[in-house]
Amino acid sequence: MSVSIGIHDLSFATGEFVLSHAALAEHNGTDLGKYHVGIGQQSMSVPAADEDIVTMGAAAAAPIIARHGKSQIRTVVFATESSIDQAKAAGVYVHSLLGLQSACRVVELKQACYGATAALQFALGLVRRDPTQQVLVVASDVSKYELDSPGEATQGAAAVAMLVGADPALLRIEEPSGLFTADVMDFWRPNYREAALVDGQESITAYLQAVEGAWKDYTEQNGRPLEEFAAFVYHQPFTKMAYKAHRHLLNFCGHDTDADAIGRALGQTTAYNAVIGNSYTASVYLALAALLDQADDLAGRALALLSYGSGSVAEFFSGTVVAGYREQLRTEANRAAITRRTPVDYAGYRALHERAFPSDGGDHYTPAQTTGPFRLAGISGHKRVYEAR
Ligand code: COA
Repeated sequence: MSVSIGIHDLSFATGEFVLSHAALAEHNGTDLGKYHVGIGQQSMSVPAADEDIVTMGAAAAAPIIARHGKSQIRTVVFATESSIDQAKAAGVYVHSLLGLQSACRVVELKQACYGATAALQFALGLVRRDPTQQVLVVASDVSKYELDSPGEATQGAAAVAMLVGADPALLRIEEPSGLFTADVMDFWRPNYREAALVDGQESITAYLQAVEGAWKDYTEQNGRPLEEFAAFVYHQPFTKMAYKAHRHLLNFCGHDTDADAIGRALGQTTAYNAVIGNSYTASVYLALAALLDQADDLAGRALALLSYGSGSVAEFFSGTVVAGYREQLRTEANRAAITRRTPVDYAGYRALHERAFPSDGGDHYTPAQTTGPFRLAGISGHKRVYEAR
């Protein structure tokens, strides 16, 4: 009998501050309805000066280590598209901050917002090879577009940590996967840029094309029929995108695109992304957390997941919710991660957005702002310095 493998635990962290879309709309004169209804966003997380993908990733993973220990973790895969170094994996800093064992492989993965799903799939393969081992998958991103650009309203920041192992407590990941890759320039960030470049409308078209392609392959690989899924968990660069994607899928399959039915299929997946904003690699797993935290008992039910990363790669796959999963959820901590954020006004957000370390190799310290468990103390001799608080 083949061993069941999947997500054993899931935890997330987000930034110290939050900018409301009302504050952004007041600054740029946009009708608030465009943000609240048109793109489906209420607010976005803004990292403190001493937070980054490492501090958020370590903060997300720490509760997992506290609950399950470290001894079975022999691999850490860190997925991000807002990388802080061209050579060193951000996961090595996380490994150090969490005090993981030295007998461990650590690597960073990149393919825009899709990277965490690649990490999850690679983790499944490692656990299949040796079911006594666990893999820590960390998806952490700071989404940053130019000030006063259309992308500005779809920023955000968060990290999701997942423990992948045999006999998972939350979600058994199933075969097959539907895959899709196409070479498109809808979103990219050249090495010399801090902020991403995006062709917004092209990215929506490319996302929909990828949904169609991944689903087509999923059916060709003998996946489940659409009717079997209790809910659909989509990557959400802005929550309205999930609605566009599901309507497109239903149309493609010749199903009714009744708004109520679409709401029932994915309405419970958007609560965290609507207030955190785009967290790139973490987004689809924040949607999963929101669903598990809010839905009536899903034990034994199949969930569909659609992961999309611009450029572009997509994967449609499924999981079955494990009996007893509710006792393992971190609902209270998840809600606290959101409510603990301090509101920042537009000027404060702008100052944080414009912050950058000088590249002179000197000693540059960051102000102590975060109330999270880890902080980026500064940069010295081109080396990032992290510390536990
Ligand atoms: N009330 C309600 N809805 C409103 C509105 C109002 N006052 N004003 C506009 N809208 C709606 C528009 O009709 C549109 O809805 P639709 O797409 O369902 O037609 C939506 O709000 C967005 O308006 P649009 O003019 O397209 O916004 P934009 O040019 O500012 O671009 C994004 C929006 C999402 C493309 C832009 O923020 C962006 O480029 N983001 C980054 C890329 C991204 O997230 N891509 C997603 C795929 S990975």
